[in-house]
Amino acid sequence: MSNRTLTITDNGTAKTYTLPVENGTIRAMDLRQIKTGPDDFGLMTYDPAFMNTASCHSSITFIDGDAGILRYRGYPIEVLAEHCTFLEVAYLLLFGELPTESELKNWVNEITHHTMLHEATKKFMEGFGYSSHPMAMLVSSVAALSTVYPEAKEVHDPANRLLQIKRLIAKMPSIAAMSYRHNLGFPYVYPDNDLSYAENLMNMLWKMVEPKYAANPVIARALDILFILHADHEQNCSTNAMRSVGSSQTDPYLATAAAAAALAGPLHGGANEAVLLMLDEIGSKQNVPNYVKAIKEGRGKLMGFGHRVYKNYDPRAKIIKWTAEQVFEVTGRNPKLDIALELERIALEDEYFIKRKLYPNVDFYSGIIYQAMGFRPEMFTVLFAIPRTAGWLAQWQELVTDPEQKIARPRQIYTGHDVRQLVPIEQRTLASVAR
Ligand SMILES: CC(C)(COP(=O)(O)OP(=O)(O)OC[C@H]1O[C@@H](n2cnc3c(N)ncnc32)[C@H](O)[C@@H]1OP(=O)(O)O)[C@@H](O)C(=O)NCCC(=O)NCCS
Repeated sequence: MSNRTLTITDNGTAKTYTLPVENGTIRAMDLRQIKTGPDDFGLMTYDPAFMNTASCHSSITFIDGDAGILRYRGYPIEVLAEHCTFLEVAYLLLFGELPTESELKNWVNEITHHTMLHEATKKFMEGFGYSSHPMAMLVSSVAALSTVYPEAKEVHDPANRLLQIKRLIAKMPSIAAMSYRHNLGFPYVYPDNDLSYAENLMNMLWKMVEPKYAANPVIARALDILFILHADHEQNCSTNAMRSVGSSQTDPYLATAAAAAALAGPLHGGANEAVLLMLDEIGSKQNVPNYVKAIKEGRGKLMGFGHRVYKNYDPRAKIIKWTAEQVFEVTGRNPKLDIALELERIALEDEYFIKRKLYPNVDFYSGIIYQAMGFRPEMFTVLFAIPRTAGWLAQWQELVTDPEQKIARPRQIYTGHDVRQLVPIEQRTLASVAR
């Protein structure tokens, strides 16, 4: 415990309070003692969008945005992306340590044997219209798993929790692939237990009439790396949704559906789609200087540039750029890459972007890779949700086992009417509210 304290003087009452400071924070509840009188509720803080509020202690993911650092359980993201598989990283996020060889073998085996979906889930998916958004199908189908596994509500039983965690990590690619094939009107493909996690996803996405799907190892590794990069990002919008919904002790399928719903919004999981639209709008490399000029004149933003947290560089963007090059050797170069590279080159040399610390973020290249793999932009967020499920579940598990956590229930500053008398309906005049 540090000796740092904060002394606050309430100029209204002239009283002074000394609050302990731990890990650079004061406890918001310590402010409640600051009152104008015995009937006063006590001081609160106002923090829309939690811009300066820590909602939990967490030992999962560390980000230093100024230094461009992202670590899972202490391991730099670059090192994990180079040396590990996604399932190894999922194990690390969930259990805190990298697995030994035999632990990993068991883990992979268990996840592989939970990939199959109950036929009831398949029937549920079949009911969606063919033009349904794949993310809406995914969110609904994950929630529907709660009907298949009602025992999941026993969230305080560690063995039960672990079983549902394995099921969710295993079934997410199966649901994602079904949503993809449903849009195309293709029959669903069952999982193949001989394949790795990424290879099996490719199998369920792209297998046609061949008796056994043979995944391209470069594409499989690229997907696995993209999954590692997207597995967790501490208390972002969807993770906060997972924790907030999970705090009511709802089951993990429903909580994961809520987290995926948060991810579906364009301000969260949808930015890579915006990058592709921007590159389409620019059209060719020659148009880049004029496009940058327009941005500097305040006409729009450069999509895939800048980040709320990373103000030096996004460490994931570097790895993605390298991965893109590997993928294009197989798929052929996505012509959008030349526009993207030129955009990056010009922007990184430009005073406007340097001064504002605007660098390419994770979304700048990921959309171009996914498009080269043959995905339509609507699928990008679904591909994001697959690996982020591991992060959501690690954070959920941490929440459920944290004795300090309770049901999430923020306060408000009430700005409405004081108590009013009800007017009988026949005496009411037309309300002067906007209709
Ligand atoms: C990610 C983002 C929302 C972060 O926003 P933020 O931290 O609130 O940063 P601000 O909006 O305060 O921006 C600071 C300055 O940089 C400018 N800026 C930020 N991102 C910019 C971009 N992508 N292109 C051009 N200018 C940008 C702002 O206009 C502002 O300029 P000013 O100081 O002259 O007003 C923002 O950078 C953005 O919209 N980027 C594009 C969308 C995107 O790629 N999102 C994916 C994030 S992973």
